[in-house]
Amino acid sequence: MSIKTTKMLRVFIMLKIGLIGFGNVAKTIYDTLKNYDDIKVSTINNNRSYKTIEMIKKSGIIITKDIKTLSQESDILISAVTPKNALSVVKEVYPYLNGTYMDINTISPITIQKILKYIPKNKYVDVALIGKITSNDSYFIISGENTDKIMDLSNYGLKIKKIGDNIGQASKLKMLRSNYTKGVSTLLYETFKTAYQLGLDDELFTILTKTEGQEFTKKINSRICNSYNYSKRKTEELKEINAFLEKNNPKDMIMNNATYNILLKLNKKHEKFDNEYYSYQKLFMQ
Ligand SMILES: NC(=O)c1ccc[n+]([C@@H]2O[C@H](COP(=O)([O-])OP(=O)(O)OC[C@H]3O[C@@H](n4cnc5c(N)ncnc54)[C@H](OP(=O)(O)O)[C@@H]3O)[C@@H](O)[C@H]2O)c1
Repeated sequence: MSIKTTKMLRVFIMLKIGLIGFGNVAKTIYDTLKNYDDIKVSTINNNRSYKTIEMIKKSGIIITKDIKTLSQESDILISAVTPKNALSVVKEVYPYLNGTYMDINTISPITIQKILKYIPKNKYVDVALIGKITSNDSYFIISGENTDKIMDLSNYGLKIKKIGDNIGQASKLKMLRSNYTKGVSTLLYETFKTAYQLGLDDELFTILTKTEGQEFTKKINSRICNSYNYSKRKTEELKEINAFLEKNNPKDMIMNNATYNILLKLNKKHEKFDNEYYSYQKLFMQ
């Protein structure tokens, strides 16, 4: 279909999107899609935390009465919850699912296989969010048999790239990328905390810039702080990556366990203090 025809059809067809979960990812998707008249985006707020309910209220998104109605009415149902809850949400929605299920959670192909016992392959699209959702250069890679509806969302401001027809392709890449980025971030945490305690962190910054380049060192602060700020979600993601590596390359699985242990430690601290940091010095001072 030509772009011109697509644009003409847009006037007559209202695309209905349902968001399950309303954290950083869902909110950012909503903020992009809300700018279009021919898209209706809804969510649910039953049994959600104070933080999520407040975020929903402030956003102005349409609230649907329950998950059953949301599943029945959505052309695209987007799951952006947490890795731990990805499967339980599927168990709630699958009897009512009419449209395509877009699964953004960082889950392994092993969890996806469990999900496919409930959702037919032609309704499931495996999605990997590449990069931090709030950064300008983040985008989605997708794989699945029936991805047309999801690709349509590229006409509405979301950056999407299809990488294959097989469910699990996006997930495998997501596992590998995530293992690397979280590994690097926790290594930076360990290294810079030691440097900070020795009063050598500024010098370390300078010498790392020489070998790693400006881009890398610019990101050090956010990598260290985000490991702490989002340690709960990241710990859950690491469990998924762990299962993936265990299945594919158990003999070399050493770094992954170390990354998991650092994130677990950061999460315990985060649960105790319930705060966020944007400067590593302040984090280390705690
Ligand atoms: N943030 C990123 O840059 C990024 C990057 C790649 C992948 N991802 C993946 O995307 C997903 C969402 O990430 P996020 O950063 O948006 O997480 P988040 O900020 O922690 O938000 C998660 C949201 O899901 C809700 N939720 C949890 N369990 C639910 C359930 N059973 N039913 C309905 N809602 C539920 C939470 O509500 P409560 O507050 O009530 O618990 C919250 O609103 C995760 O699976 C993550 O792995 C995120």
